[in-house]
Amino acid sequence: MESIDKLRQFIIEEFPVDATGHDYLHIFRVHDIAKHIHSKEGGDWTVIQLASLLHDVSDHKFNGGNWLEGGTIAYNKVIELGYSQEIATHVKECVNSTSFKGANVADQTNSIEAKIVQDADRLEALGAIGIARTFAYGGSKNNPIYNPDISPVLHDSADAYSKGNSHTINHFHEKLLLLTKMMHTPTARKIGEQRTQLMSDFLEQFHLEWETKF
Ligand code: ADP
Ligand code: NI
Repeated sequence: MESIDKLRQFIIEEFPVDATGHDYLHIFRVHDIAKHIHSKEGGDWTVIQLASLLHDVSDHKFNGGNWLEGGTIAYNKVIELGYSQEIATHVKECVNSTSFKGANVADQTNSIEAKIVQDADRLEALGAIGIARTFAYGGSKNNPIYNPDISPVLHDSADAYSKGNSHTINHFHEKLLLLTKMMHTPTARKIGEQRTQLMSDFLEQFHLEWETKF
């Protein structure tokens, strides 16, 4: 079996279809979005492909808040598949820098490959699929859909962001509506703008209905 087929099989086993929006179907969509961005923006496809497939291994949201374990798991996996230490190190850097860590926390992506994987993962958080994933995730955490008494918070640290526990509408203001401006590649930003418009329209309609306006 080709290394990439082996990796895809590993991802299918590690990330069974789930209710949080973080299953292998999410990961494969990120891979396909990254392929599209790479076709327009360049970068090393081997690194982008491996990092996009491994970007969610040991997610901080599910492992008790360890932000760096994912990179090490990804490094070991890439070596196990027979790639060089140089490629494995680059993939590790991409995986460690992908995750959103709070509205006021600076990005750490240094290479075009890391930027493309991060942009692809962020596009997956937006638009129609983004709305669906967000309510699915909120439901899996027992969070209410909305509570008008709780305002959004723009977090100053990764720790505060991951401990934040609010209603799901706030997640749009604390993260999703901010993502497009933080994107690195023009290709992703253009798609992000369309997807963000859809979410803004959705929120406008949501609040009209909430206030019983027609
Ligand atoms: P990241 O690596 O930036 O954390 P992921 O690909 O792991 O991104 O997925 C993040 C997605 O999980 C969000 O786009 C959203 O759909 C969902 N999510 C994360 N935190 C929350 C939250 N507090 N409320 C609702 N959805 C959330
Ligand atoms: Ni992801």
